[in-house]
Amino acid sequence: MKIVSLDLGERSYPILIQPDILWKAAIHLKGHAPAGHAVLISDATVSGLYADQLREALIAAELQVDLFTVPDGEDSKSWTVMGELLSRCIEAGLKRDGLIIALGGGVIGDLAGFVAATYLRGVRFVQVPTSLLAQVDSSVGGKVGINHALGKNLIGNFYQPRLVLIDPLTLRTLDKREMWAGMGEVIKYGLIWSSDFFSQIEENLVPLAELDDMEAVAEMLAFCCRAKADVVERDEKEGGLRRILNFGHTLGHALEAVTGYHYFKHGEAVVHGMDWAAWVSWQEGFIPEASYRRIQALLNKFPIPGLPDPLSATDLTGKIKIDKKQTGRGLHLVLLEEIGKTRIIQVHDIEPWIAGWLESRN
Ligand code: NAD
Ligand code: GLY
Repeated sequence: MKIVSLDLGERSYPILIQPDILWKAAIHLKGHAPAGHAVLISDATVSGLYADQLREALIAAELQVDLFTVPDGEDSKSWTVMGELLSRCIEAGLKRDGLIIALGGGVIGDLAGFVAATYLRGVRFVQVPTSLLAQVDSSVGGKVGINHALGKNLIGNFYQPRLVLIDPLTLRTLDKREMWAGMGEVIKYGLIWSSDFFSQIEENLVPLAELDDMEAVAEMLAFCCRAKADVVERDEKEGGLRRILNFGHTLGHALEAVTGYHYFKHGEAVVHGMDWAAWVSWQEGFIPEASYRRIQALLNKFPIPGLPDPLSATDLTGKIKIDKKQTGRGLHLVLLEEIGKTRIIQVHDIEPWIAGWLESRN
């Protein structure tokens, strides 16, 4: 088993990574439910695949388990679904020493985590992420929340789980497109944190995405979790360093927004956003052209939708301006100083860089 520890004093927790750990989950979960009562929150797809067996294992470990299943997809990160889940927790009699388990992708982790953060002013929760994006990013670091009609992730909190249980075998049932979208977030750690890791992914991109070797996949997950834990330990509430995790997300979010959130998966938009941020880093003279070309060559291997045509730099800039990371002093933009190292700058007029990049791709 690979164990990554996230050290936040009293709120520290381990991230356990092991093929098949889902079936031994009861051993790890039981201690987090002193009242013997757990609420398991999942979405329809993941529930159909994994929830029954997990529930049975928990019941065998003498826990009372209530399973709440919500529809798949981003629309479940809403006030309506949140309110329904809170009502169901009350009806089920979940007490302050009860446990909420998030079983699913990032949508479930964010939603169930926010339920846990607010129900009875906060109950314990555990993340059992099943998508690649959730296993390398969203289940670690305590960002929980829901969407608002005016924007994604506008309502939420920082609320750390007690434990993260990662079973890489669950990735076998994940849709290939979701898998590749998650690989976008994996590459991000190479770009922002470790050139060695970037080189490893560069050499093994397809075998990793195809899950050829589960030990190698587990190693990759552990590296990403360690990198994220290192960042979160130093800057839990995103006062500074944690912003580097948004590398590629400035344009990525804008691409998602202008295409109505249905054209790209999040990770796919981030792949394009990372290309843009690397291009700007080259144009600004922070990285040499050879580094940009190397990054571009790797990102071009992703079997993802290309940029839709036409795409307006003004529209994209407009979306970036209403993104929550825009502060009164301008926008914090995460760029690269070299592969594996970031440089954050403040910008006021981003449109020329978007227009220039779009033109460079024609
Ligand atoms: P998702 O949760 O919608 O999952 C994608 C799809 O894959 C869903 O249909 C789900 O049912 C399915 N799925 C998940 N695991 C599966 C498995 N093992 N087998 C088969 N199907 C499976 O999407 P996501 O990409 O996991 O997460 C995206 C969400 O994460 C967004 O809401 C985003 O805002 C959030 N996010 C949060 C953070 C954070 O730090 N909290 C970071 C990044 C993203
Ligand atoms: N995914 C960005 C963060 O957790 O801060």
